[in-house]
Amino acid sequence: MGATLGFGVDIGGSGIKGGLVDLDAGKLHGERLRIPTPDPSKPDAVADVVKQIVDEFGWSGTVGVTLPAVIKRGIAHTAANIDKSWLGTDAAALFAERLGLGGEDVVVLNDADAAGIAEINYGSPQDREGVVVLLTFGTGIGSALFRDGKLVPNTEFGHVEVDGHDAETRAAASVKEENDLSWHEWAKRVTRYVRSLEDLIWPDLIIVGGGVSKKADKWLPLLELRTKVVAAELRNDAGIVGAAVAARQGHHG
Ligand code: BGC
Repeated sequence: MGATLGFGVDIGGSGIKGGLVDLDAGKLHGERLRIPTPDPSKPDAVADVVKQIVDEFGWSGTVGVTLPAVIKRGIAHTAANIDKSWLGTDAAALFAERLGLGGEDVVVLNDADAAGIAEINYGSPQDREGVVVLLTFGTGIGSALFRDGKLVPNTEFGHVEVDGHDAETRAAASVKEENDLSWHEWAKRVTRYVRSLEDLIWPDLIIVGGGVSKKADKWLPLLELRTKVVAAELRNDAGIVGAAVAARQGHHG
């Protein structure tokens, strides 16, 4: 028997990535395709790229799509690191129309929630116990909160206010790059941020994801936290995999 396949597209500030997903194994089935995010990242231009990616694979089934935004019933309610014209856009309806699919066949959800779904479904079984939060460090900071493996969607913990600042403007991985911070300097900021979060939600486990989790050995040991912290097992493709899982399960953000 062949693998059960799904399809996921992960929309980020710099790239839009998609591919076939092996839903049994929880990983990409073959190569993924990445196309730079149009600038400006307006809904119509982004939807064209999503269609281009889906067409490239000749896929005609259910599609899961992530956005770096709060998504409720397919509608985008925030737009921190994408074009502001997403606000109020029915993203699910837009993609379904562009892909020639029915409304039920496209599921849109927050990018960090998708990464979390992938990690919870295919990562270590301990991730499914108690209160677990996945934090993605990239352009911004994304979050996915789980209680015994069940997602509480759209938590947006990257926007907790710490010392009078929106946390992601101080502690995202992009801030480390832009300001040329050392691992030590950046880890101090991450510690300050995650400590505030710990005091609010008291998690049992923190999972860190995003591109910078590939270099976890450089900064995880520098964090001074109460909670156990581990690096995500699924790296770059977690968003694509989680989107495909959500689409398969019909979970709308
Ligand atoms: C957005 C979140 C998103 C995160 C990571 C934040 O700025 O508000 O919705 O999950 O960036 O992309």
